[in-house]
Amino acid sequence: MTRNSVLVHSARAIALAAGALVLCVASTAVAQGQPSAPQGDNKALIAQGEGIFTGKVAGGLCWTCHGLNAKGMKGLGPDLTDKTWLHGDGSTDFVKKTVKAGIAAPKKSATPMPPFGGIPLSDAQLEAVAAYVTSLSAGAKK
Ligand code: HEC
Repeated sequence: MTRNSVLVHSARAIALAAGALVLCVASTAVAQGQPSAPQGDNKALIAQGEGIFTGKVAGGLCWTCHGLNAKGMKGLGPDLTDKTWLHGDGSTDFVKKTVKAGIAAPKKSATPMPPFGGIPLSDAQLEAVAAYVTSLSAGAKK
């Protein structure tokens, strides 16, 4: 290879790298600008919430007391899939407040629930886990 062809090759490599970088930045901008899921279609949110609940995302600890299927574990955390609520009305707002604050004085369990179950969650993660929890009892009879 002559010195010139080496120069041409490296110039091409730089041009390619710069092109890739521009593409990269552009696609990130598009991803950020994407509108959120239309209201009522919160499947993605619920799926993310399930990930948090079962500990696959954000180190969520809910499953350690409420069970992987959220049906509760005796002495630890109550069933969250039925329509019986010990501390409120089962609304999304109620679930969010409860998860954020924890439950210092449980009614049946032997141990309290720490805020966020022990690992702090962002507002978006709280939103997701609340969507998941409320979805569980949506079809329950009582
Ligand atoms: C260390 C155990 C523990 C962890 C971890 C935990 N909880 Fe709880 N949870 C409890 C206890 C205890 C109660 C209250 C039970 C009682 O009053 O007898 C409770 C109650 C609740 C309630 C209210 C239930 C009702 O009937 O009113 C919700 C909702 C809830 N937890 C959601 C979650 C979510 C979501 C997570 C994860 C972010 C989580 N919990 C993590 C122990 C836990």
